[in-house]
Amino acid sequence: MGRPAAAVFAVLAAVLACAPGRSQQLNDRPIIGVLAQENLPYDAFARGSSYIAASYVKYLESAGARVAPVRINLTDEEYTKIFQSINGLLLPGGDVDIQTSQFSRVAKIFYTLAIRANDAGDYFPIWGTCQGFQQLTVLTANKNLLTLTDTKAVSMPLKFTTAAKSSRLFRSFPKDLLQSLANENITSNFHSWSLSVQNYTKNAKLKRFYRVLSTNSDGKREFISTIEANRYPFYAVQWHPEKSPFEWIDKAGMVHSFPAIRASLYTASFFVSEAKKSQHRFSSAAEEEKALIYNYSPVFRGTTSIFVQNYYFD
Ligand SMILES: *[C@@H]1O[C@H](CO)[C@@H](O)[C@H](O)[C@H]1NC(C)=O
Ligand SMILES: *[C@@H]1O[C@H](CO)[C@@H](O)[C@H](O)[C@H]1NC(C)=O
Ligand SMILES: *[C@@H]1O[C@H](CO)[C@@H](O)[C@H](O)[C@H]1NC(C)=O
Repeated sequence: MGRPAAAVFAVLAAVLACAPGRSQQLNDRPIIGVLAQENLPYDAFARGSSYIAASYVKYLESAGARVAPVRINLTDEEYTKIFQSINGLLLPGGDVDIQTSQFSRVAKIFYTLAIRANDAGDYFPIWGTCQGFQQLTVLTANKNLLTLTDTKAVSMPLKFTTAAKSSRLFRSFPKDLLQSLANENITSNFHSWSLSVQNYTKNAKLKRFYRVLSTNSDGKREFISTIEANRYPFYAVQWHPEKSPFEWIDKAGMVHSFPAIRASLYTASFFVSEAKKSQHRFSSAAEEEKALIYNYSPVFRGTTSIFVQNYYFD
């Protein structure tokens, strides 16, 4: 390149080097932890004591990450070691108690470690989906502010807030995809509990911590459907981007249209791009190998199950 171009490039490189979260090279081999949870009592396919729905694993893999299951019966020391080895954490949907379960205990350990790490300049993103969204609000507010809504098996468009356009999560989405998200019934909702706009607005901790990117309504109550943290790389959706490409139960609320699948890929890509900013790594190649989900085989539960395949853990 010519001299002026080289000078511009040097300046640009210096500017980029100072941008937050970009002080180091991107990690192109990210490994994201997915938190397991207690088996459902009515799961006829269950083995062992905990599971991860395979759709969350595929969701992250579709965007170029590998997955390490995070089991729920380990010691604090073991979690600290895992935290230092992985590049992000996904808290999936499901059906456990978000204040008393092992799932909630481990979520809290990682949330606390992530706050501390990010405060110290060590980038560590967290993504919450459905129950994971709810879990994050409980961790931040330090109490359960959820309310019952009529939102089980329904697809809706997102009602974007003015903050959405400049949000880290949505700002890189193509315009036509944002239009589909805003106008078509493509976000899958499978939850009985929601964080109402009212309770979010009344709670100083939640308001300070998260900005609201979208809301929805069950016809009676406005609830929050997408958030991102102001000062942390934490993101959460009350809807299910992973279901459109990877779950096949034939039920109202399930959408397999092209825009729904694109929305899934874009949210996954966004989160994986966040994980690429983390430089955590396993202490050795052998440790990494042992931790990956490839060591486990998912169980096919039939296409009429809410989760078509699950990983089970002792
Ligand atoms: C977790 O469960 C597995 C399988 O039952 C067991 O081998 C392991 O020791 C348990 N870990 C803890 C910390 O209890
Ligand atoms: C607000 O949270 C409380 C729990 O602290 C819950 O009982 C109530 O139903 C919620 N109200 C609304 C409007 O969300
Ligand atoms: C979305 O679903 C609602 C409720 O079922 C329906 O009234 C509306 O027409 C649907 N919108 C589109 C664009 O399909």
